[in-house]
Amino acid sequence: MRKRIVAGEAQPGDKELEITIRPQRLQDFVGQERAKKNLEIFIQAALLREEALDHVLLYGPPGLGKTTLARIIGRELAVNVHVTSGPAIERPGDLAAILTGLNRGDVLFIDEIHRLSRTVEEILYPAMEDFALDIVVGKGPSARSLRLELAHFTLVGATTRIGLLTSPLRDRFGVVARLEYYQPQALQEILFRTAAVLEVDITPETALEIASRARGTPRIANRLLKRVRDFAQVKSESTISLETAKAALEALEIDPLGLDRSDRQLLEALIKNFNGGPVGLDTLAAVLSEDAGTIEEVYEPFLLQQSLIARTARGRIATPLAYRHLGLKVPLQLEQMEIGRE
Ligand SMILES: Nc1ncnc2c1ncn2[C@@H]1O[C@H](COP(=O)(O)OP(=O)(O)O)[C@@H](O)[C@H]1O
Ligand SMILES: [Mg+2]
Repeated sequence: MRKRIVAGEAQPGDKELEITIRPQRLQDFVGQERAKKNLEIFIQAALLREEALDHVLLYGPPGLGKTTLARIIGRELAVNVHVTSGPAIERPGDLAAILTGLNRGDVLFIDEIHRLSRTVEEILYPAMEDFALDIVVGKGPSARSLRLELAHFTLVGATTRIGLLTSPLRDRFGVVARLEYYQPQALQEILFRTAAVLEVDITPETALEIASRARGTPRIANRLLKRVRDFAQVKSESTISLETAKAALEALEIDPLGLDRSDRQLLEALIKNFNGGPVGLDTLAAVLSEDAGTIEEVYEPFLLQQSLIARTARGRIATPLAYRHLGLKVPLQLEQMEIGRE
């Protein structure tokens, strides 16, 4: 059962929950029904068996709730969560120190797990599979390998780039959950919750307006709400009106599809500099003076999901939708292709 949180209204247990914008329990985590339902069952089963939960891999674009879910998993299991990230673990010894510090059932959360170095990753294999740490003691001919037992723990890995994970690592996760972009209604619900935390009043229409321009992403929805709140505050509005929200979003250059200036620049570059493509990622990155990884992780997934761009073997292309969205004429050739496909 999901609790509905009304803006401004205190909920039982608020103080104990020490409300923040991040939901603390699975039942407060909006959307992602499939991932949530599966996790709920696996968590319950682990609790019943009094065993550590199987290792969990969460993947999907930034801002969809991977870190939030990792913390929720720890809380639902009533265990400690140790937080680190791929780039933060530089040497195998760093990981060994973390692993030996874990207690039975603890959650080790490794964010950006695709950025672990190979040598560190190799320590992780026996740790995940056999809860063992292989260490070499001594040097030269007298060196010997020692196996240290580790507490049964749960590794929760998060990544925006599952394609960059090696298959031995990926295969060692028992639970793999992909987070999807949120529907506007789900984001609207998240916004009500955030509004309550921020102690601002918001109408359902205003929340839906922000929600539908948030690129399906809770982090963006929350950020937009904070900016819209600033506009309302300056106008001394006690409840954020739809007009104010619309004006604020316009001032922030967020268009009705939720694209911001960077998204539109990408589409424009694709269309104006490259005739709609196909163009390779690195070329596109150079023209936009943007990091190729950022384009691939942050901008492209949503543009692809909205069918504004498409990936072909020869590179990215702009779709007829992209031309129309920017108010440009669709080239005849592209239009014919579109007709041909229908
Ligand atoms: N399902 C959700 N319900 C409510 N808030 C969410 C949800 N998913 C994400 N958020 C909010 O969005 C923000 C970004 O979430 P986060 O877990 O940091 O994303 P990620 O780790 O995937 O980049 C957080 O502030 C969190 O409060
Ligand atoms: Mg995160």
